[in-house]
Amino acid sequence: MCGIVGYTGHRPAVPILLRALKDLEYRGYDSAGIAVLDGDRLAITKKQGKIANLEAAIGPLPAATAGIGHTRWATHGRPSDRNAHPHSSCDGRVVVIHNGIVENYTALRSELQARGHAFQSETDTETVAHLLETEMAAGADLFEALARTARRLEGSQALVAMTVDEPGTLVATRLGNAGGIVIGFGNEETIVASDLAAVLPLTQEVAFLADGQVARVTPSGAEVVTLTGEPVMLQRRRIPIDPVTALKGQYPHFMLKEIHEQPEAITDTIWSLATLDPPALYFDDLGSAGDRLAAVERVVLLGMGTSLHAAMIGQRYIEAFAGLPAAADNASEFRYRDPVLDDRTLVISVSQSGETVDVLEAMAVARRAGALQVTVCNTEGAQTTRVADGTVYTRAGLERGVASTKCFTTALVALYLLALRIAQAKGRLSEEALASHLHDLAQLPRAAADVLRRRDQIRKRAVALAAAQHVLFLGRGLAFPVAMEGALKLKEVSYIHAEGYAAGEMKHGPIALIEPTFPTVAIATQHALRSKMISNIEQIQARGGPVTGVITEGDAELTALCDAVITVPAVSSWLEPVAAVIPLQLLAYDVAVHRGCDVDQPRNLAKTVTVE
Ligand code: F6R
Repeated sequence: MCGIVGYTGHRPAVPILLRALKDLEYRGYDSAGIAVLDGDRLAITKKQGKIANLEAAIGPLPAATAGIGHTRWATHGRPSDRNAHPHSSCDGRVVVIHNGIVENYTALRSELQARGHAFQSETDTETVAHLLETEMAAGADLFEALARTARRLEGSQALVAMTVDEPGTLVATRLGNAGGIVIGFGNEETIVASDLAAVLPLTQEVAFLADGQVARVTPSGAEVVTLTGEPVMLQRRRIPIDPVTALKGQYPHFMLKEIHEQPEAITDTIWSLATLDPPALYFDDLGSAGDRLAAVERVVLLGMGTSLHAAMIGQRYIEAFAGLPAAADNASEFRYRDPVLDDRTLVISVSQSGETVDVLEAMAVARRAGALQVTVCNTEGAQTTRVADGTVYTRAGLERGVASTKCFTTALVALYLLALRIAQAKGRLSEEALASHLHDLAQLPRAAADVLRRRDQIRKRAVALAAAQHVLFLGRGLAFPVAMEGALKLKEVSYIHAEGYAAGEMKHGPIALIEPTFPTVAIATQHALRSKMISNIEQIQARGGPVTGVITEGDAELTALCDAVITVPAVSSWLEPVAAVIPLQLLAYDVAVHRGCDVDQPRNLAKTVTVE
């Protein structure tokens, strides 16, 4: 989950690396560092903390036109200057940056120490620098040294290295699924990075390394081989960019900006997949998966965190619209079980980044079992899109805030439409039903915009909740995953302990927690289950617990019952999760700001999780 970048070209490397690191900072911000060639030595600057600390530490800029940079999410060795990347060899002639884990690093380190290598850090990464040094001492150039070293490494990872002996050359490899490597081709300049965010400001012409490939990167391009030296023809592609979504604009935080972008992101996602007149579905990126949907007999939906919550709602859409057995599963658990899958199982992975290692490994399990795979993804060309048989892109634009918001609601839209597409393939969707569903969906952007205009009622609740130590979120039906998402948002940005529960579960344990200082947020927008929610709210209040209801506008009974309410406009019951989650995102944001938390870069988190 660290961010890695390397540049080689004709322009000064340091400003390019620093800009790229800022674009990658969401991947980890425990420390940052760069290395550039300064005359006949490698100049390394690295600092604990955010990129700003690194910038402050960089002295007069060397005129180097090649270098590497890293922003770290610590796995081995606590965050410190010493453990910050790049790491260098004993002789200081090779430097390396790394994303992922060298699982056999203890054995490698002991072996190297026995041969006289002295280590400067506690990281697994440093072993790679020493291995490269050893291979080069035996006569290999850096490219060959990396291929030989990579063959000795266990675990999933991505690496970029450079040496003082080969000015202008960088080498990179991707091993397993923990980290992607994308190479961007400019005009006599090449950039290599862990993800597109760092590459697109320089060039839209890119290629991705596959597992087990090694690249030699120079200003004029890249030469790629497999670990055993077979040459590889890289497939270049052009990636569209949206420069506007990369900027904060009038908003103090990306999270707030992205919450406010939801009406537009939802609109873009709907109309990239459907038309209202005539009522029709268009899944251009589904590829061969589209033809195989008719044969699907069951569906498994996979994701992590917020994307898992989207998958849980997707499960309910598929059961209801397509009439197929469906189950949402945590990818990190799924990959270590013996899931029963076959070629009539459709596996839908939900991943906004398309790079989450647990999702990719779960997809590998599904592939081995012959399952059909579709991924719901927000990142053009990401790894899940390359593994799956078909892709449903969400059109949220770049999401920079670590806490996901617009990617969640657009994933719900994509899953709603995908469920209709599966229903259509199974012959279970009449034209009238499709028209009615699309009509409901068309109301959603306006409803989302309406919720955003109700910010004042949310701010008041935020002030009240900011002092709480714990908050319970309850919901039933489609509102249960929304309760889980509301709790996740609150805990990740405000550090208040929060739990999301199915309201019916309350009496089976959690109700013991209720007392006057323990607030509950009850999502009571699901009409069919409203009377059950009313009973649950009364049970909490009977134990002195204050309840904030998220309710449908005009619901007088719930307004009178709850201690406070947040209202949302009425939408189709299937789409209530979208209307109900937006106030919870704003609530988490406002509570976090009230408590002085770093909303866009919450402690300990990273946006893309590429380690287990
Ligand atoms: C929370 C959040 C995470 C991600 C999770 C999976 O706000 O964003 O829970 O949803 O890390 O990431 P993706 O969707 O990229 O697979």
